[in-house]
Amino acid sequence: MSESSGYQPGTSAVDSSRTSYGDAGFSRYLRRAFLASAGYDDESLERPIVGIAVTQSDYNTCHRDMPALLAAVKRGVEQAGGLPMEFPTISLGEILTAPTTMLFRNLMAMDTEEMIRALPMDAAVLLGGCDKTVPAQLMAAASSEIPVMLEVVGPMMTGSWRGERLGACTDCRRFWGAHRGGELDGDEIVSVRQELVSTTGTCTVMGTASTMAALTEALGMMLPGGATPPAVSGARLRHATQTGRRAVELARTGGPLPREVLIREAFENAIRVLAAIGGSTNALIHVLAVARRAGVPLEMADFDKIGSDTPLLVDCKPSGVGYMEDFHRAGGVPALLTELAPLLHRDHRGVSGRSMGELIAETDGPAEWQNTIRHLPDPLGPPGALAVLSGSLAPNGAIIKASAASPHLMQHTGPALVVDNPADASAILDDPDLDVTPEHVLVMRYSGPVAAGMPEAGALPIPAKLARAGVRDMVRVSDARMSGTSYGTVVLHCDPEAAVGGPLSVVRNGDLIRLDVPNRSIDLLVPDDEIAERLRSFTPPARAARGWRRLYEETVLPASQGADLSFL
Ligand code: FES
Repeated sequence: MSESSGYQPGTSAVDSSRTSYGDAGFSRYLRRAFLASAGYDDESLERPIVGIAVTQSDYNTCHRDMPALLAAVKRGVEQAGGLPMEFPTISLGEILTAPTTMLFRNLMAMDTEEMIRALPMDAAVLLGGCDKTVPAQLMAAASSEIPVMLEVVGPMMTGSWRGERLGACTDCRRFWGAHRGGELDGDEIVSVRQELVSTTGTCTVMGTASTMAALTEALGMMLPGGATPPAVSGARLRHATQTGRRAVELARTGGPLPREVLIREAFENAIRVLAAIGGSTNALIHVLAVARRAGVPLEMADFDKIGSDTPLLVDCKPSGVGYMEDFHRAGGVPALLTELAPLLHRDHRGVSGRSMGELIAETDGPAEWQNTIRHLPDPLGPPGALAVLSGSLAPNGAIIKASAASPHLMQHTGPALVVDNPADASAILDDPDLDVTPEHVLVMRYSGPVAAGMPEAGALPIPAKLARAGVRDMVRVSDARMSGTSYGTVVLHCDPEAAVGGPLSVVRNGDLIRLDVPNRSIDLLVPDDEIAERLRSFTPPARAARGWRRLYEETVLPASQGADLSFL
């Protein structure tokens, strides 16, 4: 159990705060004077304080209902005799934050970690949801010295267009692909647009947000059943109230602390769940970053190794056909864990205080009437949903979401067609006279962490000429990421990235590239001495002159190590 003594009756985190204005007595007196101005009397300050990190922003539509979620957490804290105190942090809305939210994940992690440390509180609840917010909060939690729990806003509901069910954001790409291919006209794509994001909440498929919510539950950093209740549901608010109540208990007992929850067994359980849900490739980077902060040795190869005997069980887009509301109705993560039980570390205890085995024992498995959570002996897909590759094009590793790729491209050799960044891609790939065939391998570079903050640009569009001819997938290779809602035969996170002189930087149009997923390789079929010769004339791109971008570029770790800042 925890080394922390936790909240002691008769003391207040406000009195032990380290803000100082001279002598200790004067500092305490001043803190209480200012709090009194906000209505906090001495009796209020006798209670354990639960700090609640709020990430509401008009720029983050996924978090639009956070006031209701916050009220529910506060209700739980007050019911349990605690004092809730909300505080803001950076909010990263995936769609409107340029050039990419990934550039700011570490900044949000620092912000959250430092506010937890700076403000007087006995425990913290972190409210997030959209793609990078949950990873940032997990990273902050891993670096914190008080009990921390996460609560997510929950997924959005699906919409409907001409009788067809749809939702962000796998369908966003599918319909856009149809529009590029000439199947939908301008009016039709506008009318699709009105239905894609039909409610508040996070994307309604197994994208990065849903994946990270499921992994947070599997890691034990969230109360059971918290990953899947829709944002607009009463179940979401009831879960938030339970979280508030439990946070007060953690504040009183002083634990478990994040470092007691985030142990090797927790990460192995999370990787099993990642494989079973066909989760986002982005999770690999985020989980590596959290593990690094928690001091748990973890590497890319662990994902392949642990995932290699964990089949795909959850039928959600982009690997399947369902949506998060289906997964929730089927029992969500708790029901999935009952299926995975033989593969899990069942002694592990998370913030609920119960062991994984105890939680599984009191949970019904997937109901007979549903088909979203499959049974272990009869899975939806084979093991290896995420495959870790290496070879002469990515000596330190790359990743492909095999469960969302085209079977006929899993072993493919073709000539490279190179673009140097996402801005170049549109101009080149929309050219009606582009010399390209379905056998080409599209290569994009200078999109890694150092070059560009690692945007979700790796799922390059199919060249317009081929899209109109009905081609829906090609092999694509880059040092970028892709959205967890994307699909296709897309090799990502090539490490080392082009901007630091990785082999990607010297690929030329027409060079042959071989992808071999069964053998876990991605190779540039150019002789080693020729690659070495080309690399001798490599010139790194110019770096940012100032600000966060400069600090980030100078200190960010490679994707294969989680892309956190090296000093954190
Ligand atoms: Fe926020 Fe997809 S844009 S979760």
